[in-house]
Amino acid sequence: MEIIITPDYEAMSKMSAVVIAREVKRKHDLVLGLATGDTPIGTYRELAKLHKEEGLDFSKVTIFNLDEYLGLAPLNKNSYNYFMWENLFKHVNVSQHKIFVPQGNTDDPEEFSEWYEKQILNVGGIDLQVLGIGGDGHIGFNEPGSSFASRTRVKGLYEQTIKDNARFFDKEEDVPRFAITMGVGTIMDAKKILLIASGEGKADVCKEFIEGPVTSQITATALQLHSYAIVVLDEKAASKLERKEYYNWVRDNKHVVEKRIGR
Ligand code: F6R
Repeated sequence: MEIIITPDYEAMSKMSAVVIAREVKRKHDLVLGLATGDTPIGTYRELAKLHKEEGLDFSKVTIFNLDEYLGLAPLNKNSYNYFMWENLFKHVNVSQHKIFVPQGNTDDPEEFSEWYEKQILNVGGIDLQVLGIGGDGHIGFNEPGSSFASRTRVKGLYEQTIKDNARFFDKEEDVPRFAITMGVGTIMDAKKILLIASGEGKADVCKEFIEGPVTSQITATALQLHSYAIVVLDEKAASKLERKEYYNWVRDNKHVVEKRIGR
């Protein structure tokens, strides 16, 4: 994993938007996997800015979102579909028929999940998957114990996730107990992965998933087994990493190697 430590949330947002924009420019019909939550709001703001000010073109990009609460209709203000429209889709020129967000109010979540996996396959798989990380180490809603081979399916939310996400709802009891989420296996099939994290509250879990042993109890540790994963953190989220100086040294010196191999 390439670990990039940035000074603060703003810098993390800018850096992650640059990584995404680089891929969109490299491949105009990029298949982009996206996440919701507090962490990527700044990244999406930066992408909207790049679209407005520099003409970053999303017209051929296909988007697959990671997850959605089970039972919430797409227009529900707490749905991830609504979040994505508010924070990104309505600010860029992404084409509506190229947007895929799991349908929370589907009658048949199992059939829907299979259909979702097929749609990903039909477009040749995800080129770049953007992730946040939950306090319990989840990616998507792959809670502790999720198999690394799991595919899109319904998952019961872990107590800590319900507590963490209660801030978006009037009361904790309103947080849905289930979600449709891409599996760890679905995420690991992406050609490239970008995980972003910020704030002190993520420091322990970032240390565990970057420097700890690989375990399905912290599903983000699966990224240690991916061939192309970039992690962009702010200083606070990186504060408990033991090998911080090494990651910074690599970041500052990798151009030497990249030049030699002619990238
Ligand atoms: C959201 C998602 C989750 C979040 C994670 C962090 O689509 O898949 O894994 O990325 O819960 O959420 P925040 O950014 O709100 O701390």
